[in-house]
Amino acid sequence: AGDRPLAGRRVLVTSGPTHEPIDPVRYIANRSSGRQGHAIAAAAAAAGAAVTLVSGPVALPDPPGVAVVRVETARQMLEAVEAALPADIAVFAAAVADWRPEQEAGSKKIKKDGTGPAPMPLVENPDILATIARLPVGRPPLVVGFAAETDTVVEHARAKIARKGCDLIVANDVSAEGGVMGGTDNTVHLIRRDGAVETWPRLGKEEVARRLVAHVAGLLTG
Ligand code: C5P
Repeated sequence: AGDRPLAGRRVLVTSGPTHEPIDPVRYIANRSSGRQGHAIAAAAAAAGAAVTLVSGPVALPDPPGVAVVRVETARQMLEAVEAALPADIAVFAAAVADWRPEQEAGSKKIKKDGTGPAPMPLVENPDILATIARLPVGRPPLVVGFAAETDTVVEHARAKIARKGCDLIVANDVSAEGGVMGGTDNTVHLIRRDGAVETWPRLGKEEVARRLVAHVAGLLTG
């Protein structure tokens, strides 16, 4: 049906930041609010899809009609994503922390001992988008990634689509002046695997979500 183009489809969305614990009270995180990812999950549900939203820690309410799985770390997010498959469309809107402290957080707060902070080695987190986009079996037919860049947004996104193995990248400029991270609006570029670019005007994140859902529904049905 025209207004429910995703009826009968399964959609998986990741959203929000991840928190990577340093100790019981401290963590590494980023400024993602989860607004764009949550809006995409809501729009996909409104388009008739059965939606699972895997969300990092956010202050947002669960979108109506969406199955929400709340996680804290990147590794938990990957596990929840794998458990939520199969899906027809997977949209990776989360701002996953690239690194986590190498040392697992213990149950005791790290003390200041007067000698200054100890070095904190970091290790790379799993790349959830690349892992799912490169699944030999059970890869969702349409895998969409996000690219948050502060400069040469489209060029970086073109490189990213190849590196990650996804079908579409939604690139946005998150330089501080735009107020995209944590803000209500977004200016995005859609970059396809063949390099074609579509640039949308500055829109509310809900409208970006509606248009994106309509766009991917169109791609899925050819
Ligand atoms: O490499 P970069 O972080 O810029 O890529 C952004 C895209 O990759 C987003 O779609 C994000 O959700 C996804 N990503 C991920 N797991 C990571 C890092 C990024 O799924 N560890």
